[in-house]
Amino acid sequence: MNPKKIGLLFGMERAFPQALVKRINELGSNNLGGGKVVAENLLIDVIRLDQPLPYDLILDRISQDIPVYRTLLKYAALRGTEVINNPYWWTAEDKFSANAIGIAAGVAIPKTVLLPHNSHPPGTKPESFSNLKFPLSWDKIFSYLGFPIFLKPALGGGWKNVYKVNNSEEFFEKYNLTGDLTMIAQEAIDFESYYRCYVIGRERVHIMRYDPKKPYLQNYVPDEPAASPELKARMERDARAICHALGHDFNTVEFAVRKGVPVAIDFTNPAPDADVNSVGKANFEWVVQNAAEFLMDRVQHPRPFSMSGNWPTLFPMLSARPQTIASPATEQVRPAAPQPPKTEISISAAASASPAPETSKKKGRK
Ligand SMILES: Nc1ncnc2c1ncn2[C@@H]1O[C@H](COP(=O)(O)OP(=O)(O)O)[C@@H](O)[C@H]1O
Ligand SMILES: [Mg+2]
Repeated sequence: MNPKKIGLLFGMERAFPQALVKRINELGSNNLGGGKVVAENLLIDVIRLDQPLPYDLILDRISQDIPVYRTLLKYAALRGTEVINNPYWWTAEDKFSANAIGIAAGVAIPKTVLLPHNSHPPGTKPESFSNLKFPLSWDKIFSYLGFPIFLKPALGGGWKNVYKVNNSEEFFEKYNLTGDLTMIAQEAIDFESYYRCYVIGRERVHIMRYDPKKPYLQNYVPDEPAASPELKARMERDARAICHALGHDFNTVEFAVRKGVPVAIDFTNPAPDADVNSVGKANFEWVVQNAAEFLMDRVQHPRPFSMSGNWPTLFPMLSARPQTIASPATEQVRPAAPQPPKTEISISAAASASPAPETSKKKGRK
């Protein structure tokens, strides 16, 4: 029997893909878990519509930055290659909906509001926004969220265009820099501790103490006191619930802990940082070993394709509707979906697109 083949797709990173390929090939030659498995860096040449890719599984670390890779991976998935993370759901996901999914999964989420584009998207003009109240009820947003507020893109990562603002003047100053990005505004969680959890295969959780206020490369703080057993258990439960709901097999989930409650801040990270220089040696080793074991297990025990995780089953209003298409996602339903906690955490949507009101600074507005 031919060995199962795993391909790695990556950009500038080197240490993680190299270590992962090496580890899989070492473990694979020992016949871990059954049939032989090999791994290699993906080499892309001519992609024809009539030929599948010669891989049983591809780990995607870079298609968020290289759109042609996303198209390639969707095609690979159609032709039977298991792609991690699911390129269809990754394309569809945004932080606002993901936050709604987080709440449905029983996780504490900051109060969040969807904002209209600050500038008109190309090809639109004021008349295009027929359905948008103008001016928007900004006071309602500010009194609901309270200052400070975090402004961040609904689609994004790497702290790009993320701003913390303390009052309405600062809010509009930063909002006016955001052009036609889709932005969300979120209450700032005043946390006593902060954690970043690696989650592989939706079940393997590795909790890392993280200090977002330290400079880059010093964020992971291994010497800090570990979380209490209760907090650890809650973060593990929440991190798993989020990854089952979203259907990400490779993800990090960040929690800001406020008064003992882990509040999920960022959990749409399907290509999370695995650089040994930033995560540190011990975390790096965990990721390499667990990624290798998980990918090898998965390539030998492929799962039925599904478009997303189990989130459609978490929304009673969706389950109540007549179903015309059987959803493979139901196979992943956890026994009892917990109810959202009765905290002040909630979510609300504002209108979907309108310019900001005129402010003294009109930069970035049309
Ligand atoms: N609601 C919030 N409360 C407290 N801190 C936040 C909040 N939102 C974002 N942050 C801080 O900003 C950082 C970047 O925001 P994040 O949502 O992770 O964006 P990105 O996806 O670009 O990494 C987080 O790591 C966290 O330190
Ligand atoms: Mg983040």
